[in-house]
Amino acid sequence: MDNNKFYQVFATDYHKIFPVNSEVVNSFAKYLKRGPLLDVGTGTGEYAAYFTDHGFKVTGIDLSDEMIETAKLRHKNITFKTANMLEYTKPMTFLNIICLGSTIAHLASKAEISAFIILALNNLQPNGVLVIKTLDYSFVLDNHIMSMPTLLSSDKTTSLERKYELVNNELYFCTTLKTKDALYSTKTKLFPVTKKLMEELLKEYNYTITKHERQLTIIMHK
Ligand SMILES: C[S@@+](CC[C@H](N)C(=O)[O-])C[C@H]1O[C@@H](n2cnc3c(N)ncnc32)[C@H](O)[C@@H]1O
Repeated sequence: MDNNKFYQVFATDYHKIFPVNSEVVNSFAKYLKRGPLLDVGTGTGEYAAYFTDHGFKVTGIDLSDEMIETAKLRHKNITFKTANMLEYTKPMTFLNIICLGSTIAHLASKAEISAFIILALNNLQPNGVLVIKTLDYSFVLDNHIMSMPTLLSSDKTTSLERKYELVNNELYFCTTLKTKDALYSTKTKLFPVTKKLMEELLKEYNYTITKHERQLTIIMHK
């Protein structure tokens, strides 16, 4: 099952399992500048809605038509577009670009992550800020942690079982989504981003990287 299929089946329930997390917001909100904000890999637009409510003019993009359809239905006042983060070219348009929830781990290689960073910096106005948040997958690679706690929605109607598989050094995120009507098992290939890899990739740039538990926060200023 390819990545698109994973988000296709998950689109209507994603927000129940992954609502806005205030710790995530607090880890970077102070770096944002009042002005246009692009949310890359917006999913169902939960963070796009949060920042709209806090006074930002937000555009959300995502590769998955189904995620974008759900985002449009859930948040009617926001501009959402189906687009590949590697192809979305809007030079000097945004003051803030955020890419949350390990979206960069959905790219295929170091070269694609570099290409995304170059494109994102190009899409920023002078003095704009790029925020990337991702899991540091070294905990899987180094410790062979294969299984993660099951997530349950607050209304207890939906759950997501999660584990990782390493096959020939390739990382797969394997999930079983249970809703009151259905059960879906899916497998998504991820690129195992680590702090070390990001430090290598970003050595030519001005950036800060912090690690809290397994989460990396990367802040780059144009
Ligand atoms: C784990 S979700 C994160 C959603 C949201 N940002 C959050 O933090 O809850 C990753 C999202 O990235 C999207 N995605 C994957 N590859 C992409 C690409 N090349 N361009 C744009 N979006 C992509 C997926 O469709 C999915 O909605």
